This record gives sequence, C-alpha cells and structure tokens, in this order.
Amino acid sequence: MTDQFAVKMNDITKTFGEDFKANDSIDFNVKAGEIHALVGENGAGKSTLMNILYGMYHPDEGAISINGNGVSIHSPAEAIKLGIGMVHQHFMLVSTLSVLENIILGDEVTGAFDTIDMKRCRQKVKQILNSFDISIDLEEITGRLPVGIQQKIEILKLLYRNADILILDEPTAVLTPQETDELFKTLMELKYEGKTIILITHKLGEVLAVSDTVTVLRKGKVTGVLETSKTNKAELAELIIGEKLIQADTKTSHPTKKIILEVSGLTVKNERSFRAVRDVSFVISAGEILGIAGVEGNGQTELIEAISGLRKIESGSIKINGNAITGKTEIAHIPANRHKHGMVAEYTLSENILLGRDNEKQFSTGMLLKKTALDSFTSSLITEYDIRPQDHNALIAGLSGGNQQKLVAAREMTKQTDVIVISHPARGLDIKAANFVYKTILEESKKGKAILLVSSDLGELLKLSDHIAVMYNGKFTAILDAKQTNKREIGEYMLGVKDK
Ligand SMILES: Nc1ncnc2c1ncn2[C@@H]1O[C@H](COP(=O)(O)OP(=O)(O)OP(=O)(O)O)[C@@H](O)[C@H]1O
Ligand SMILES: [Mg+2]
Repeated sequence: MTDQFAVKMNDITKTFGEDFKANDSIDFNVKAGEIHALVGENGAGKSTLMNILYGMYHPDEGAISINGNGVSIHSPAEAIKLGIGMVHQHFMLVSTLSVLENIILGDEVTGAFDTIDMKRCRQKVKQILNSFDISIDLEEITGRLPVGIQQKIEILKLLYRNADILILDEPTAVLTPQETDELFKTLMELKYEGKTIILITHKLGEVLAVSDTVTVLRKGKVTGVLETSKTNKAELAELIIGEKLIQADTKTSHPTKKIILEVSGLTVKNERSFRAVRDVSFVISAGEILGIAGVEGNGQTELIEAISGLRKIESGSIKINGNAITGKTEIAHIPANRHKHGMVAEYTLSENILLGRDNEKQFSTGMLLKKTALDSFTSSLITEYDIRPQDHNALIAGLSGGNQQKLVAAREMTKQTDVIVISHPARGLDIKAANFVYKTILEESKKGKAILLVSSDLGELLKLSDHIAVMYNGKFTAILDAKQTNKREIGEYMLGVKDK
C-alpha cells in the first residue's frame, strides 16, 4: 500500500428531484492498493456515490481525481477507460449466456472481418484465472450457477476490462458464509496484485475482517473516516445510525399446540427434474418459528417455493389448518429474490403494497380500488418501517436497495394470513432496520402465526427460531431445539458430517 490516492472525490453533491440531497458535500478518498469499506444506513447515499464514480450519475457539484489526475466521468465506458469497474447491488449478467460469453460481452476481441476471436478471448480470460488463482468452468450456462460463482463472473468481467479500481456494491448480501469466505480470499489476492477495492457492506464483521479503512455515511454526509484496526463494531454502529445500537431481541414466547402448517411426505422437483426436496415431513404450530439452515442448493428454495405456491409439488401434501393449499390460499411470502418475485419496479410504493392484496376489503369494494385507504395504509407502513423517501407516490425503482426490501417486508408482514414464509429477512438491511424486522417477526409469531424462516445467517436463526431444521440433499437431517444448539453443531449437519 502506498500513500498515493487512487480515488479522490471532493465535495460531491447530488440532488434528486427538487431538493433531496442523496450526497451532500461528500469527501471520499481511497488509497491505492487498499480495501476501503463504505458503510452506512439504508438510503445513506452509498450506491449513489459509487454510481457517480462509475459515471452513471453526474454530480451537481464536486471534483474527482483518479491516480492524481482530475477527471470528469460521463459514462461507465469512460470510467472503464480510467480503470474503474463496478459490480452493482443487483447483478447484471445474462443468464442464458455461458460464463465466457458473459465475461467478454461488450468487450470482445475481434479478429479479421470484425468477427469475435473466441480463441484469443478465452486465452485472455484463462490468463486472468491463473494470475488470480480463480477456478471456474467457462463453458457452463451462467443462470445455472450458484450466486457465489455469478459474483465471481462479475468480478472477472472487471478484470477482463483491466480494472484497477474495483467497486463492489453489497457483494456479500446474497452469499452464504462459505461463499463470502471465498470472495474475501479473492479480494485479498486482488489486493496483493495491487488492485484498489471499494467494498459496500452492512455486515460490520466483514468490514473489520477485510478492510484497511472505513468511510461511514449517514443521510448523505460523511460521519466518519477510520482506520479499521483502530475501530470496533460498537463505534461503527453508532456512526452509522447516529445512536447506540440496541441488541436485537430473541425469541422468548412459546409455541402453542395448535398445528397450523402440516407438510407430509413432500417431494418437489427443480427445473432440471431433479428431486430437490425428498419426502420431507414437518409441522409448524401457532406461535412457532421453524428455522431452516442449509448450504444453498440443498432444497431450501424449492421447499419454500412449493409452500408459497410458486412451485408444483410432485407428491405429498401441504395443509394449512387441515386444508390442502390451492392456488387461492393466502400465504405471506418474503422471497429471496425481491426483484423477481417481490416488487414491480415501475409501480409506486402504494401500488407495490397492493400486490397480491387487491382482494382485501380494506383496499377494494369488490369493483373499485379504495385509493385513499391504500395510500394512508402505505403511509403508515412508510412511517413504521422507516422507508425513505416518505412518499407513497414515489416509484419503488428510485428507492435504495434496503428501502425496497423494507417495503416488501412491510407488505407481507401485515397480510392477514396464518402462515408467513420468509427468506433471508435482513438481506440488504442496515443493522437498525434488520433489528426492526426481527422484532416484527417475533411480534407476528406472538400473535399466533406459523412462521417458516430460511436464512444463511445462523446467528439470526438461533435468535429467532424455536426449532432449526437442517436441510441436506433434499432432506431434513436434523430438527434441533434452537435453545440447545449452536453454530458449530448446525454447521456439522449442514456439511453432512453429522447425521441423526
Ligand atoms: N434515481 C433516483 N431517483 C430518485 N431518488 C433516488 C435515486 N437513486 C437514489 N435515490 C435516493 O437517494 C437516497 C440514497 O440512495 P442510495 O441508493 O445511494 O442509498 P444506499 O446507501 O446505497 O442504501 P442501501 O443500503 O439501501 O442500498 C435514497 O433515499 C434513494 O431513495
Ligand atoms: Mg445501495
């Protein structure tokens, strides 16, 4: 690491709409060769600042210099020319293309007559794989690969374009702990090869583990620039939310004996006609939270898709209050992929709240939409969940990632259903918002709902669940009492080392 700055952003201001300052006189300086963490609450302005650096937005005010030279960046193409690459909060790969095609897309090496010289492209990619010690099958179809690998492809895309400054916007939000470890190994490797890395994350453990410096934003302003080795979680949390962090609640209420959800002998196939869920049986009673742990790809996704009615079942049954579920059964569902299943980007916040709820009497007379009631309900959720901006007429596309997530959670948690299926409730949320969502889950449980909770965060599962089922190879290999188990034991079942 040298004391030279790879990035200097000086006095950056960016206004949206009339007078909303997403970035307000921000100074952001990154030394060459360091890993610099950029943290802050949902909507603090992190993605906006990085989109400015990547040329997607132009700042109203401020100056940028790259490696000591003043620049003005008007497009991602210009950013790439300056050696800047960005992996966005939401991936932008084409799922039907091969890994190699995705990596070279838009930047193909052309040979005679402008044809793509696949051989030379492949050679160049192979060189990169070698020098950064990354292994990946270049011919595989991208959409079939786990997110951890897709993430690597996004990074490879940047390296292929010779990026020296890599911006990663919440790269670990969708990764399992194992995949996160892998990613961090790659980042360390990149750092030793002299790359400069900017990492946005909400997980303070990650900040402390891999970064050299941290910049904290709150409401569009810098609230701290710290050397990582001289700070700690409590200090960072306070700079992020502007107050002392209160510990998250844990489950203290007890389940009743009344069975709500009953799953028997359930078998479900995935897209490739592989039996992803095999003969699984369990019940969840009123007031019970059943957590599901497992390495991604062991059938969790197919299980919750079947229960929430998104996937056909092969055999077995799913009953709620004794009745087999049909297409009409109301089940609240906070899905893992919010962009695909949870929201419509070009709808307003109110319209997004209405999704799947247009038959509810509070919003409809049967013929007509009760727009005033919908808007005031949406406004109350906006206040309660601290969704920003506080405007039910805003388009959800303009919200920060975490605020979109809060809206989806708010809609599903307030549905009048007996069963709630939740995937990764805190994904993309800042620490305060995550604690709020945990609190709400516990409250809904207290009201007597049956809750199925899938998460890759074992700490979260241990805090919220009554029981934790571990899925391995499509089956439950253990159902553990959350109060009697720990991360290590769960981990052993997850890896199939232990079996009951
Ligand atoms: N294109 C846009 N139009 C209008 N408002 C926007 C736009 N992009 C961002 N904003 C607003 O600017 C603020 C900052 O958003 P930004 O995406 O930078 O937050 P963030 O720090 O990345 O948050 P998160 O952790 O939730 O991803 C938010 O209040 C957001 O609603
Ligand atoms: Mg963001």
